[in-house]
Amino acid sequence: MATVQQLTTKHVLGIKYLSPEDIHLIFETAQTFKEVLNRPVKKVPSLRDITIANLFFENSTRTRISFELAEKRLSADVVNFSASSSSVKKGETLLDTVNNILSMKVDMVVMRHPAPGAHHFLSQHIDANIVNAGDGTHEHPTQALLDAFSMQEAVGDLTGKNIAIFGDILHSRVALSNIFCLQRLGAKVRVCGPPTLIPKHIGQLGVEVSHDVLDSLRWCDVANILRIQLERQDIKYIPSLREYAQYFGINRKLLDQLDKKIVVMHPGPINRGVEITSDVADSEHSIILQQVENGVAVRMAVLYLLAATR
Ligand code: CP
Repeated sequence: MATVQQLTTKHVLGIKYLSPEDIHLIFETAQTFKEVLNRPVKKVPSLRDITIANLFFENSTRTRISFELAEKRLSADVVNFSASSSSVKKGETLLDTVNNILSMKVDMVVMRHPAPGAHHFLSQHIDANIVNAGDGTHEHPTQALLDAFSMQEAVGDLTGKNIAIFGDILHSRVALSNIFCLQRLGAKVRVCGPPTLIPKHIGQLGVEVSHDVLDSLRWCDVANILRIQLERQDIKYIPSLREYAQYFGINRKLLDQLDKKIVVMHPGPINRGVEITSDVADSEHSIILQQVENGVAVRMAVLYLLAATR
């Protein structure tokens, strides 16, 4: 690839710390890598001298595989760590775990951790570049980047576009990263869900708040539908999944009432029949699998640009 313009940061800890220029640079770079991924030979030598550790302290399917593929497509050396089968189970701390891995000459760390801010803590103690692959209910920056990249592909420049985020906003790291990313790209953002699943002061971030699903679908160009995160709910926020599906789930009947075709997205994993029905998830409105496809190119771009800061 041509000479690299630099990101303004050596880590991707959250969208909050990326400028609009950083995001545009990531998207331009991702576009080039997307072309590479459509060639018969999908590999480039860009990160041949770099070793990356993928540290997953929480479950993942898409993000873990997407990062690993991105790293291998860039010719990096890759090591994978899963907390459930590690010495974390014997009481080893996060910093000891990471320092032991780094002493084996690892250059970059991709980490998912249940504690919000775990990546910040690490960034103050280690030299390696860090990419946040999800920290608790805080941020999931590469998900937001691939979401916005996919939205741009579907509806063009996001300036002035209406993007509605539906569902469990309270427990979602994807929601916060999406809000920061979409606002930096000039989109108008609305969140929609039951009052118990929307943080009280979220309006202070400059987003609209609605509890009316049909009105929000009529308002938006793109509907990003989020999962009900039962595993993060210590108390009952909704009476039942059945009731949630009835009042807040996105189904075909709702889409058929619109006088325009909107784009439907979901970061996964999907609770089919709860926040989204199969006839929406698998419909012509849906770009859910394009999101997953774009994730590899976007993560290649993030890793490539971070490596250039070394
Ligand atoms: N979207 C997402 O983060 O999915 P995984 O939890 O499977 O990585």
